[in-house]
Amino acid sequence: HAATDYQAEDATISQGTVAGNHTGYTGTGFVDYTNVKGSYVEFRVSAAATGPASVTLRYANGTAADRPMDLSVNGTVVAPAVSFPATADWNTWAAKAVNVTLKAGTNTIRATATTANGGPNLDRISLAAVTDTQAPTR
Ligand code: GCU
Repeated sequence: HAATDYQAEDATISQGTVAGNHTGYTGTGFVDYTNVKGSYVEFRVSAAATGPASVTLRYANGTAADRPMDLSVNGTVVAPAVSFPATADWNTWAAKAVNVTLKAGTNTIRATATTANGGPNLDRISLAAVTDTQAPTR
């Protein structure tokens, strides 16, 4: 399955701003979370079927400190305090993958900062259905 990208600058942003003052982002910019606990970006995503999916968050964190975020699906935290460790600088982007379960149709995926530093800079998420490639055992 090919991944579908959802740009952070097109998502619902609470306590954050769309920025473009660093290099290497995709789309038209990235989200700069306000340095406050509870700031979030929420994506509306579409899934073809109910089942497991991988969400890969493309982020930059040019500080020395981790910028953990809770990941929620349809209003429920499914991955608490996911680590977004330092990248080399604010122009260097890294990928953090989290496995979630989606329902067929529209889902919300929200990434909420859990510390007063706020979240990392967030460029986009990429969503891919997870298919079982292992042969069934009997
Ligand atoms: C710097 C950086 C921003 C970043 C911010 C932060 O100001 O330029 O892109 O969002 O630090 O600490 O979150």
